[in-house]
Amino acid sequence: MDSLPIHTIFSLVCWSFCLLPFSASSDSRLLPGKPLSATTTIISDDGTFAMGFFSRSNSSSGTKHYYVGIWYNNIPKDNVVWVANRAMPITDPSSATLALTNGSNLALSDTNGHLLWMTNISTKSSSSPEATGGEATLDNSGNFILRSSQGILWQSFDYPTDALLPGMKLRITHKTHALQRLISWRNPQDPSPGNFWYGADPDEFLQRFIWNGSRPYRRSPVWNNYLVVGQYIESIKSTLYFSLQRIGDEVYIFFGMPVPTVSSLVLVKMDYSGTVRIMIWNINMSKWTDLQSEPNQECNKFGYCGPFGYCDNTQPIVTCKCLDGFEPNNKQDWTANRFSQGCHRMEALRCGQGDGFLNLSTMKVPDKFLYVKNRSFNECIAECTSNCSCTAYAYANMSTKAINGDETRCLLWMGDLIDTEKLIGQGENLYIRVNGLSDKKWSGNVLKIALPVVSSLLIIICVCLVWICKSGGKRRNKEIWKKMMPGTSSTAAELRDGNFKYPFISFREIVLATNNFSNSNMIGHGGFGNVYKGILGDEEIAVKRLSKGSGQGALEFRNEVILIAKLQHQNLVRLLGFCIHGDEKLLIYEYLTNKSLDAFLFDATRKSIFGWPIRFEIIKGVARGLLYLHQDSRLKIIHRDLKASNILLDAEMSPKISDFGMARIFSGNQQQGNTNRVVGTYGYMSPEYALEGVFSCKSDVYSFGILLLEIVSGLKISSMHLKSDFPNIIAYAWSLWKDGSTKDFVDSSIVESYSLNETSRCIHIGLLCVQNSPNARPLISSIVSFLENGDISLPHPKQPIYFAEKNYETDGAAQDTANSANNMSITVLEGR
Ligand SMILES: *[C@@H]1O[C@H](CO)[C@@H](O)[C@H](O)[C@H]1NC(C)=O
Ligand SMILES: *[C@@H]1O[C@H](CO)[C@@H](O)[C@H](O)[C@H]1NC(C)=O
Ligand SMILES: *[C@@H]1O[C@H](CO)[C@@H](O)[C@H](O)[C@H]1NC(C)=O
Ligand SMILES: *[C@@H]1O[C@H](CO)[C@@H](O)[C@H](O)[C@H]1NC(C)=O
Ligand SMILES: *[C@@H]1O[C@H](CO)[C@@H](O)[C@H](O)[C@H]1NC(C)=O
Ligand SMILES: *[C@@H]1O[C@H](CO)[C@@H](O)[C@H](O)[C@H]1NC(C)=O
Ligand SMILES: *[C@@H]1O[C@H](CO)[C@@H](O)[C@H](O)[C@H]1NC(C)=O
Ligand SMILES: *[C@@H]1O[C@H](CO)[C@@H](O)[C@H](O)[C@H]1NC(C)=O
Ligand SMILES: *[C@@H]1O[C@H](CO)[C@@H](O)[C@H](O)[C@H]1NC(C)=O
Repeated sequence: MDSLPIHTIFSLVCWSFCLLPFSASSDSRLLPGKPLSATTTIISDDGTFAMGFFSRSNSSSGTKHYYVGIWYNNIPKDNVVWVANRAMPITDPSSATLALTNGSNLALSDTNGHLLWMTNISTKSSSSPEATGGEATLDNSGNFILRSSQGILWQSFDYPTDALLPGMKLRITHKTHALQRLISWRNPQDPSPGNFWYGADPDEFLQRFIWNGSRPYRRSPVWNNYLVVGQYIESIKSTLYFSLQRIGDEVYIFFGMPVPTVSSLVLVKMDYSGTVRIMIWNINMSKWTDLQSEPNQECNKFGYCGPFGYCDNTQPIVTCKCLDGFEPNNKQDWTANRFSQGCHRMEALRCGQGDGFLNLSTMKVPDKFLYVKNRSFNECIAECTSNCSCTAYAYANMSTKAINGDETRCLLWMGDLIDTEKLIGQGENLYIRVNGLSDKKWSGNVLKIALPVVSSLLIIICVCLVWICKSGGKRRNKEIWKKMMPGTSSTAAELRDGNFKYPFISFREIVLATNNFSNSNMIGHGGFGNVYKGILGDEEIAVKRLSKGSGQGALEFRNEVILIAKLQHQNLVRLLGFCIHGDEKLLIYEYLTNKSLDAFLFDATRKSIFGWPIRFEIIKGVARGLLYLHQDSRLKIIHRDLKASNILLDAEMSPKISDFGMARIFSGNQQQGNTNRVVGTYGYMSPEYALEGVFSCKSDVYSFGILLLEIVSGLKISSMHLKSDFPNIIAYAWSLWKDGSTKDFVDSSIVESYSLNETSRCIHIGLLCVQNSPNARPLISSIVSFLENGDISLPHPKQPIYFAEKNYETDGAAQDTANSANNMSITVLEGR
């Protein structure tokens, strides 16, 4: 036993994971009379797999438990692929053995000779294995096969535990045998059967589930082809596939690769945390990486979006929606991201009288379907149309007759549609029944156009009448009134575009819409007040509840809002209305699904979906929005608080500047360049503005420069991750730019998508914007051309003067009145 000393040393060294044996006499076979013990291993011919005794218990957890299993021999961690005695651990391995018995069975017995596990093969002869030519071999695919002269008696591939290796299969119909499943480990140390298992739906082999105990936890998309070809993987020069195959009376899922020699590096695993992963071993990084895993997010869990809701995976922030023609059962819950109550029909079905089917593409179709065999597509449609309780159908051509001698797959749904999803680039067409689609489509559109026009005309007329009565000839109001008269300053086109849609919205409506400003509806807060999400009619809105003390009277406020609401640009957030109620002043904006830029830029997990092309478009969009505010709009608005949290993103990730005009609302119609009210956020404020209260368009340019540097680097102006030798992001950018190593400044999570040319140019422009002298900073119009035309040569920036954050705080005139969510964003309002 020359292996023992080595083993002793080894077990001293390793404690979190231990494979006991380091056998000198390794063989790929288990022979009669030569049982496997704790000091020996069996190794496949090519050295990929090993079989023997192992323990995952760590030394701190008391008794060590030992198991007989198969693992990847050359992979140091998470390498076990099969376990024999999952539920019956060995506590004392010293003379435990796995041996071939006389009846040609494999039997594992502990030191006291108790049987812990055995293969239950019933053979007629009880003659010795030598006599029947019995032996067991661990082959290169990781399969441990027991053979006799009659052929294969037993193989480990027929008894999967928590993992599928290429070439393994899972039985998904049951005639004579039970269904097969992958059952998770209890935890990373304990291979005994855990809570999660993965396998076919016992009622319908066409779909698979991950179960948590007896509850469905995740449902895979329904098969719509007998062969599901997976990805081609460059590193192993092969394609992974899952396929459905019939063997005799039973149907199996096969997992495999056409090139079996490289098969050893990939596996499917039901992991102890409830995730099914397809993993590949990355040799360079020495770790497993996921090729695919499910569920990926909360929203993908079974039934998360409730009946008639669906999980929309195509959005950057994956969330629930109601199917077309449906609305939330409980709008307050829905707005607060509680989706389980689902949705209901907006209009009841009138069976047979003009009901139509809506075609939703790239869907994961719902659960609980009726599988009707041997139907053409038209027969399938007829099947659903003719039965009033049929709510949806889906059809697929399975491409071969492999399973039922039938290549059609017609699915019907008779009740609620649950666990539906919209997928990215895969999925199938789902046809759902809705009320009178044929004429609704048309009338719906006409209503959509006509209603706002008519109602905004009515509102304009009312507002004008009220003003004529109330203003008593005040000049200022007359001017506004004149501006608003159709045909004077506004064109018919403006009217049609709904330019005049900024009605007064009643306080009661807003209270209802925001669930009385409940905390669960609050989506942000800052110096100007809190922001709430709400639902007004069918529209999602964001309500900004201004903090008290704007210093403006109601009329002034109203006039400012109406002016600001006239600013319309695709890169500005749309103001929908306002409300004055006693002391309360509220602004109602369109709600943007993707929240603010900082939620992506500074979030470790979301950063990566946020590649350079998207970032560059955002930079250009913000610049265009700012150009409109500074130069193209009638009002020449200086934003004064431009920062990442004030850039909102719509569903297409197009940026929209928010909070513009706030300075006007808060300080009245100031045109002078000096104010005793400093509104802004430290770090983003230009030195002259922060220290002296002097502001101009160039103060916004400064803030834009900071924003640019943040977007390129993914670092916050106030980041603690910066190298300690740099006081802030400007100094860091300058130092790298000066040395020509701008590459190091670029966010490491966009290395795959970025263009060094563009990022370097952006850093250069950023440095031009943050120059100390306002006159040296470019105008926003120049910045837009710099960004859009890469050929324009850029001036050389002056070395910036670095401001430590402390300098701002010692500014005696400033007085903090509010803190926003991030500590560095402090709005300073000095009382007048
Ligand atoms: C040791 O095992 C315990 C219990 O299973 C676990 O909580 C702990 O993290 C393990 N320690 C190490 C270092 O793996
Ligand atoms: C073998 O049969 C025994 C008794 O019926 C049973 O407890 C055990 O789980 C079976 N072993 C396997 C590997 O199926
Ligand atoms: C196995 O067979 C051998 C000879 O064939 C015999 O000597 C031995 O007793 C048998 N063992 C058992 C457990 O039946
Ligand atoms: C699984 O089910 C158990 C018991 O119902 C529950 O406590 C646990 O949170 C579930 N796990 C997950 C990941 O949902
Ligand atoms: C590992 O590194 C080699 C050489 O650097 C490279 O050719 C190969 O593609 C890398 N493999 C993976 C899986 O990244
Ligand atoms: C449903 O939509 C998909 C994708 O738009 C299209 O390919 C399919 O033909 C449509 N089905 C019908 C019946 O029109
Ligand atoms: C399918 O239906 C057609 C008639 O619609 C019938 O002739 C055929 O035998 C059926 N095939 C099977 C496999 O049931
Ligand atoms: C509609 O389908 C349901 C479920 O298959 C069935 O019970 C019912 O009888 C059908 N109704 C008609 C009118 O065919
Ligand atoms: C399914 O597709 C195959 C090949 O594209 C075609 O030959 C066959 O007619 C189709 N079957 C049905 C029922 O549409």
